[in-house]
Amino acid sequence: MHHREWLLTLWVLLLIRSSEEACTSRDFITALEGEPFYLKYCSSLPVHETAPSTIRWVRSSKSHEPMELKAGSSPRITVHGYTLEFWPIESDDEGNYSLKVGNDTKTWTLNVVRRNKTKCFTEELVRSRLKEVEKVLDIDCENSYYQHLVNQTSLYKNCEKIAESNKNPLIRKDAEFTDQGYYTCVLSIHHNGKLFNVTHTYNVTIVKGLGAISPALLGPKRRYIEVELGSEVELNCTALVNEDDQVYWVYQRDDGSTLNEHEGNLTKFLTSEGKWFASRILKIKNVIEKNLNFSYKCTAINTASTDIQNFILIKQGRADLPSHVFRRGIITAISVSAAVVCLTVLCVLYRVDLVLFYRNLTERDETLTDGKTYDAFVSYLKECRPENGEEHAFAVETLPRVLEEHFGYKLCIFERDVAPGGAVVDEIHSLIEKSRRLIIVLSKSYMSNEVRYELETGLHEALVERKIKIILIEFTPVSDLAFLPQSLELLKSHRVLKWKAEKSLSYNSRFWKNLLYLMPAKAVKPGRK
Ligand SMILES: *[C@@H]1O[C@H](CO)[C@@H](O)[C@H](O)[C@H]1NC(C)=O
Ligand SMILES: *[C@@H]1O[C@H](CO)[C@@H](O)[C@H](O)[C@H]1NC(C)=O
Ligand SMILES: *[C@@H]1O[C@H](CO)[C@@H](O)[C@H](O)[C@H]1NC(C)=O
Ligand SMILES: *[C@@H]1O[C@H](CO)[C@@H](O)[C@H](O)[C@H]1NC(C)=O
Repeated sequence: MHHREWLLTLWVLLLIRSSEEACTSRDFITALEGEPFYLKYCSSLPVHETAPSTIRWVRSSKSHEPMELKAGSSPRITVHGYTLEFWPIESDDEGNYSLKVGNDTKTWTLNVVRRNKTKCFTEELVRSRLKEVEKVLDIDCENSYYQHLVNQTSLYKNCEKIAESNKNPLIRKDAEFTDQGYYTCVLSIHHNGKLFNVTHTYNVTIVKGLGAISPALLGPKRRYIEVELGSEVELNCTALVNEDDQVYWVYQRDDGSTLNEHEGNLTKFLTSEGKWFASRILKIKNVIEKNLNFSYKCTAINTASTDIQNFILIKQGRADLPSHVFRRGIITAISVSAAVVCLTVLCVLYRVDLVLFYRNLTERDETLTDGKTYDAFVSYLKECRPENGEEHAFAVETLPRVLEEHFGYKLCIFERDVAPGGAVVDEIHSLIEKSRRLIIVLSKSYMSNEVRYELETGLHEALVERKIKIILIEFTPVSDLAFLPQSLELLKSHRVLKWKAEKSLSYNSRFWKNLLYLMPAKAVKPGRK
């Protein structure tokens, strides 16, 4: 519904409601002597479209001739167009009242009753209201016709004042059985300098929920009760029920015999929220072996459904589970956890092999869509001093031979892949950006400025921008890493690989496996070239 339509609907509803409340549609009406009273005709035409002169109010009764009521004909009775007001109404105002507009006539029959002197309300005028328990109970003293004249409103329950205010006292709550009673609103209103009371009374009756519930026993479906032999127990079976539902025990053995059990009477009670509970006790005096491990069944039943609860007596101090079941359970639990631990240990030990195996199996390739050119940028000491010969050979020969030719990766080795000349620093930066990993070959002599720059750019990206992952290869044992930037200490130790000369040469060595594990997954079969 559109906003405007919705507003329109609301407006129409309000209009209907207010006109309904204010006009007098019933034909036979009872009024209370001494209180203000009015009759209002609900015309389909607005008052101002009808000349007041065409509206006539006529009163007739057994003892009176028909008599037209005119404005000013009585100090108590006032005529305003479609409305006739009494300030107040008296017992000799009884009779028929007619309103004539053109050819239309509407007639009401008015009955005036005496005030009950002993009560705050009059029985004949009580309006009955039936409320289901737990549903909303609302009592509203508002009277739309007199509302603008109200000085004060008091609300009484069974003639005891429960609220008073110059606004509209109202009750809105979930109905409880204790809410039942007579609620009387007394509106004190001003008219022509006099105070009048307008009272109306509701006879509120709270009834139980009309929808029947399914009986439900309280507690778990199977209950173990610990007992000592020779003692006396009472099994208490309680259910949430409807008023007429039954609760009973089944304690006979298969052959119909019983032991020492005694079934108690059904006791029912109603809570203040209107719920019925039913209890029945099964008493077992002097518990014997035969009472143990037998299912005492309690049943709550109505025509629509049943609920059953089993009570089983067990010897005090005994585990709820039979011991062999318990033992078997423990053994199973221990072996399952042991298996889990073993599996976890194996997974951790062979993590690298498992990952490589998995990559092979799925041919996973994480290099396809990242837009990078190289799989790794290799950083090492470039100055060709004689003592660095091995390191140089490792970086420009061994690494490419294995990673590129055997495993199909693409490396960026500055010395090999970048033409001499140009701005070295910028170039290194952009090459590192194009690479997925930064491989740093560490050794004692890893000190040159240029290498330091590579290192720091890469580290910065790895640790701050998290763009590139670093693999450190300890080519010769490095005892003192103090010359390295501090951030290097943050690298996880498994990203540092130790080169172990001959031992590491084979393609199947742990060194290469670990290196492959740290390299991006690439769908290339080993030994492709
Ligand atoms: C109020 O309601 C109760 C229950 O419905 C009924 O028994 C009683 O007669 C009513 N009282 C009056 C005054 O109508
Ligand atoms: C209600 O009436 C009393 C007595 O006439 C007056 O003193 C009081 O101010 C009135 N209260 C309101 C809210 O009109
Ligand atoms: C109005 O009702 C109150 C009690 O609620 C009473 O004390 C007062 O006298 C009544 N006034 C009239 C004019 O009936
Ligand atoms: C049985 O249990 C219900 C609910 O817990 C309780 O209200 C009732 O008093 C008990 N009956 C006896 C005899 O103990």
